[in-house]
Amino acid sequence: MLKDATYCLETFGCQMNVLDSQLIEGQLRALGMRPVATAHEADVVLYNTCSVREHAEQKVLSRLGVLRRIKRHQPEKIIGVIGCMAERAGKALLANMPHVDLLCGPGELNQLPALIEEVHARHEQVAALAGSLSRRTEVLQRALEYDSLEALDLARRPAPGQNVLQSYIRVQRGCDKFCTFCVVPFTRGAERSRPPAHIVDEAQMLVDHGAREVTLLGQTVNSYLHQQGGNPVSFAKLLERVHAVEALDRIRFVTSYPADWDEDIFRVMRDFPRICPYLHLPAQSGSDRVLKAMRRPYSAAGYLNLIDKARRYVPEISLAGDFIVGFCGETEQDFQATLELVRRIEYKNLFVFKYSPRPGTVADRRLTDDVPDSVKTRRCNELLAAQLELGLAQKQRLIGRTVEVLVEGFSKAARRAQQAEQERGGEATKDFSRQLVGRSRGDWITVFDGDAGLIGALVNVQLERATPLALQGRVVSVASPPRMPAARRESAHVSLPVLAAG
Ligand code: SAH
Ligand code: F3S
Repeated sequence: MLKDATYCLETFGCQMNVLDSQLIEGQLRALGMRPVATAHEADVVLYNTCSVREHAEQKVLSRLGVLRRIKRHQPEKIIGVIGCMAERAGKALLANMPHVDLLCGPGELNQLPALIEEVHARHEQVAALAGSLSRRTEVLQRALEYDSLEALDLARRPAPGQNVLQSYIRVQRGCDKFCTFCVVPFTRGAERSRPPAHIVDEAQMLVDHGAREVTLLGQTVNSYLHQQGGNPVSFAKLLERVHAVEALDRIRFVTSYPADWDEDIFRVMRDFPRICPYLHLPAQSGSDRVLKAMRRPYSAAGYLNLIDKARRYVPEISLAGDFIVGFCGETEQDFQATLELVRRIEYKNLFVFKYSPRPGTVADRRLTDDVPDSVKTRRCNELLAAQLELGLAQKQRLIGRTVEVLVEGFSKAARRAQQAEQERGGEATKDFSRQLVGRSRGDWITVFDGDAGLIGALVNVQLERATPLALQGRVVSVASPPRMPAARRESAHVSLPVLAAG
């Protein structure tokens, strides 16, 4: 059935989900399925879901509400909920929503094509879930099982034309930390580190297809530890090994966990030039009392100490952080401590979330969600307002400097201007149509004018102006032109004259 069928896949949530969706797409395309733009047109509609906050789940529920009506007229359409929400909501979701045909948890995604076939053949609801992982022991048990999902990452081959310039690579699955607010250990299971050789091979394969930057993904990526074969490989060692992949220009990693930090990681960041000076290190709160209630095993002072150390090793380091406001029992004083921490650290950017109780977590079972929503909103806004100022001040300090930028493509403003131009039959508008966008090694978003030929290049940009969202500048030189994927380079060689040796 799958050959020639169409699919529409929508992704919610974190980078791990974005990567999972890319791998699923690879699988579906390999079977001959074709992507279409809307759920309406598709034979198979898939939502790769997120459970971290209630809001993310509600978005999916509203999509499913619309599909219920569509399916009345198109009863053959197959509807699948995959990823974290499938795992969390489990079979109750199938019972409440008879028009949903399949559920597939994030640990079972390699089974997805078989599940679709099964629904098609049997017209029955099917589910592949890790089970009701309601207890820590059950979650940890999964670490001992063979991880069949490794097959999904191993089978990865970018589809022709797929943009791999900046690619994600999974290095670790799951999480063992059990922060009291967080559903991830329940949905993604225990922490498992992938074999370093698989990761290095994947980086090499992506480089061969044209990747210049890879981001290594894990929930607590710095706790990566691969032990099999009697030769333990730490995260610092893994970074060194990925760094050895020739022609890879940039390496990033997310997300880091402030406890159990290995100083070797900072040493590798300092000594290995292609590892970007960027660290996403969620603090969650600046109050020791709240950190304790969250079961985050560090204090605000300990966190600050770690950041000081990071800056001693890598003076240019850019920092990103996550904070939850309005966690159970958070007082005004606790919140002020968070604000104070944010002011002291000076993050490049900040992700602020209003606490959202998640079923099954310790916080939901044992603590009271006692901060009113209006107070959560105010604290969220205050933190973001402080960040806006702090971020702008940092950007202003960069003015006059020249930074290396990896050119990702035309900016949103340029794409809008280009579209408007087309609609008006080529007539020029007030012109953003040549505005390109990219990121510096420190992950600063930078815009500048240039031609399409620069997309995929590393350019040196002199910074001239800061806005709340980005830095603006002009290209002063091309550090490295766009690189052709090895596959295309080989065919291009045929027509090139052979150069005499020496
Ligand atoms: N280590 C993971 C964290 C996943 S959740 C990672 O790779 O990013 C991402 C962020 O969502 C967390 O850092 C936290 O700030 C926020 N978050 C998690 N659970 C939450 C909840 N119940 N309510 C609000 N925010 C939450
Ligand atoms: Fe969640 Fe804490 Fe792990 S935030 S992903 S349980 S480190």
